[in-house]
Amino acid sequence: MDTEELKKPLSSDLELHLKAIFGGADEPNAFKDLLHKFRTLMAYYECAIKEIRTKLEVLNTAFSLEYDRNPINSIHGRLKQGPSIFEKLKRKSIVPSLSAIEENIHDVAGVRVVCGFLEDVYILEKALLEQDDIQLINKKDYIKNPKPNGYRSLHLIVSVPIFLSNEKRYMKVEIQIRTIAMDFWASLEHQLEYKKNYVKDNNVLEELKICATLSMELDQRMDKLREYVLS
Ligand code: GTP
Ligand code: MG
Repeated sequence: MDTEELKKPLSSDLELHLKAIFGGADEPNAFKDLLHKFRTLMAYYECAIKEIRTKLEVLNTAFSLEYDRNPINSIHGRLKQGPSIFEKLKRKSIVPSLSAIEENIHDVAGVRVVCGFLEDVYILEKALLEQDDIQLINKKDYIKNPKPNGYRSLHLIVSVPIFLSNEKRYMKVEIQIRTIAMDFWASLEHQLEYKKNYVKDNNVLEELKICATLSMELDQRMDKLREYVLS
């Protein structure tokens, strides 16, 4: 988000959300000020996504220089939109404020990294967390402990500094690291979940679980192949 982005008119959806949530900001100047602060915060998150993306791209280059192959298949960054942020605060029964967002919503900035092999996921995690400006806030390893539906991915919440004109600010970023097979499963499951609420259909649940197991076996076999061919 650049400065032009900060000047753009607000979508009526977000404006309504902000007005409804931060009541008392009816006075036009107070609302303008709040809006500017909200957009500035979102711009900081956008910068944090850039920092993480650059770190991952550098690691990918370093790894390819050393081992002659790339561990990263793709990197995708996304900023959670205002309405989703406020819905999440509401769901968690947290009184909305800008500091409440920073303290409680850890996935405003999200980066998804898709790797080739299973081993690459942990190589990347280790290399990233060894960097002395990155702080690990929380880790959920759904690869070692898949979710009941079969979902697998490594989730890290990290804090990364962004350097502003006269300030160093730590921002939280959710990083999801997964293999192509895990991404394939998660993307399709997500589509199904959005298109139709299948939660109560046991046949669908069972079939998805089988697909998740197959994708896990695929990852394990490909990783053995990598070990055989490359080591
Ligand atoms: P959220 O409120 O969804 O952020 O949950 P959380 O804070 O408990 O985090 P969790 O580790 O459960 O998941 C965070 C993110 O991982 C989600 O926003 C999705 O992007 C992804 N995710 C988690 N579970 C699933 C799943 O079952 N299917 C798919 N497709 N994605 C999932
Ligand atoms: Mg989330």
